[in-house]
Amino acid sequence: MPLHVLQHPLADHVLTHLRDQKTKPVLFRTLSYQISLLVALDATRDIATVEKEIVTPLEPHRGRVLAESLVIVPILRAGLGMVQPFLDVFPDVSVGYVGLERDHVTAVARSYYCKLPPLADRYVLVIDPMLATGGSAAQALDVVKAAGAKKLGYVCIVAAPEGVETVQKAHPEVSIYAGALDRTLNAKKYILPGLGDFGDRLYGT
Ligand code: PRP
Ligand code: URA
Repeated sequence: MPLHVLQHPLADHVLTHLRDQKTKPVLFRTLSYQISLLVALDATRDIATVEKEIVTPLEPHRGRVLAESLVIVPILRAGLGMVQPFLDVFPDVSVGYVGLERDHVTAVARSYYCKLPPLADRYVLVIDPMLATGGSAAQALDVVKAAGAKKLGYVCIVAAPEGVETVQKAHPEVSIYAGALDRTLNAKKYILPGLGDFGDRLYGT
C-alpha cells in the first residue's frame, strides 16, 4: 500500500519548528497538535460518508455526513501527543491503547500495556509520532489485527525509510500516512534529521 507524505507549506512550517532543538515542551505540544491534525485529515480522506437532507436558512440541501466510525490506537507514550486533534474533529471516535517501549541498547520494543475497544467494522488508525526501525509499528499492527481490526492505517509525524520498509514488509495492506519522510537512522536508531526523542520533548523528561 502507498506511503502518503504531507505536501503542504503549513506542514513544512510546523515541522521545522517542531524539529528545532530550541523549541520548549509547551510549544512542542502545540506544534504536535497542529501537525497531527494535518496528517489526521490526510489519513481520513477516504472515510465513508452518506447523503443527508437538511435545510439551510435559504433552501433544502442534500449534503453528506460521516458514516464510518473511527478507532485511534496511540502507541504509549509518545502517541498520546497525537490524540487530541482526532477527538476534536471526528464525531465518532474511540481510543484504544498499546504500550510499547524501545530498549535503549537494542532498540527492540517491549510491550507493557494493551486496552482496545471493539475493532471489527471500524477504521482503525495506529498513531505514533516516530516511525524509526518500524519495530514498534509492526508490533502494534500485529496486536490490533489479532484483536479483529480489518481496515487499518498507520499515522506518524516523522518516518524513516527503514521503518517504512519494515511496516510495508510485515503489513503490506496497511497505508502509511506521514508528516515527513526523513533521510535515515543513526547508530542508535534515532531518525536523522528527526527531532530527537519525541516522548521526552513532549513531556519535558
Ligand atoms: C518511540 C516512538 C515509537 C518508537 C519508534 O517510543 O514513540 O513508539 O520509539 O521506534 P521504532 O520504530 O524503532 O520502534 P519509545 O520507545 O522511545 O517510548 P516512549 O513513547 O515512551 O518515549
Ligand atoms: N523514537 C523517537 O522518539 N525518536 C527517534 O528518532 C526514534 C525513536
